[in-house]
Amino acid sequence: MSKHTIVLIPGDGIGPEVTRATQRVLAAAGLDVEWVELPAGATALDQGYDNVLPARTVAAIQAHKVALKGPVTTPVGKGFKSVNVQLRQKLKLYAAVRPVRSLAGIKTRFENVDLVIVRENTEGLYSGIENEIVPGVVTSLKVASEAACTRISRYAFRYATRRHRKRITVFHKANIMKLSDGLFLDCARRIHEEEYPNIDYDEVIIDAGCMKLVQDPSKMDVLLMENLYGDLVSDLCAGLVGGLGCVPGSNIGDDAAVFEAVHGSAPDIAGRGIANPLALIMSSVMMLNHLHEDEIANKIRSAYDAVLAEGKSLTRDLGGNAGTEEFADAVMGKLK
Ligand code: NAI
Repeated sequence: MSKHTIVLIPGDGIGPEVTRATQRVLAAAGLDVEWVELPAGATALDQGYDNVLPARTVAAIQAHKVALKGPVTTPVGKGFKSVNVQLRQKLKLYAAVRPVRSLAGIKTRFENVDLVIVRENTEGLYSGIENEIVPGVVTSLKVASEAACTRISRYAFRYATRRHRKRITVFHKANIMKLSDGLFLDCARRIHEEEYPNIDYDEVIIDAGCMKLVQDPSKMDVLLMENLYGDLVSDLCAGLVGGLGCVPGSNIGDDAAVFEAVHGSAPDIAGRGIANPLALIMSSVMMLNHLHEDEIANKIRSAYDAVLAEGKSLTRDLGGNAGTEEFADAVMGKLK
């Protein structure tokens, strides 16, 4: 395979720690890559940029089409518009895909979790359109467009078909948000009926869906939902398989893709060398598959599976004592 050029965004908090560990694993596995390292988040402001998402960073991803991204910190209730929301909207990364699977060696209440969350990534309540109507009264606009709901539905059905998945379940709240979530359902139903009748399809009101997930996740398969619901349900599902250190993700558009873990910048443990890099290593495996580097992807997957199954080098979030680099070393030691 030819040399790849990949944009690397180390990000904030634990971001630089987990991206460094992931880069080492990729190098040891033999990926031929030129990294184009650029900032985003608080780090960008620290480096003198006037925005948390510098135009240079966006332009580099547009040019090279693939990025590996660490998490970034988003201040609560003030400051710049979220880097992630900006990035996903600017690059039209309309599909967030988050596989959530039980891992051998990680003990949780369930052993057979195998879910994929497909989240609409560009609109909904994350459109960022908020107004103070009069002092003391604010509105937050939830946007649903037929084009975006159709696009994400088609993506989810196509994904399910290619990955031999059986069923798509839409999580919604169309009993209350009759127009916006109603439109999402209309689009999903139409794609199912007209284009993918062979994939089973059902719908569940999100509150009941969350209960069903924590009772028996093996009953579900691919979960399709709008932006905010996907954000929340991703973390809930992470809790089913060992936590945020174990769930990878990708943000996919027609022209670019950004791979990042589901977790955030974890300021509570940043700078201590104890963050679990597994979720970003797993995200990098998704990136390798996207780049058709399946052999290297399989090598890394087998290596971290072996480390987890052995259980000697787990990070603290998984009940062990290993640090970030120690876990990466263990994965590198299992590469064949
Ligand atoms: P978080 O995911 O950063 O942390 C939640 C909890 O999980 C913390 O206790 C943390 O220590 C733990 N955790 C997360 N990742 C871990 C890892 N790899 N290894 C070990 N433990 C891990 O969520 P939180 O605290 O709500 O958000 C912190 C910041 O991250 C916020 O500014 C938020 O906006 C941002 N964020 C950024 C995301 C991104 O850039 N994609 C995604 C989610 C949050």
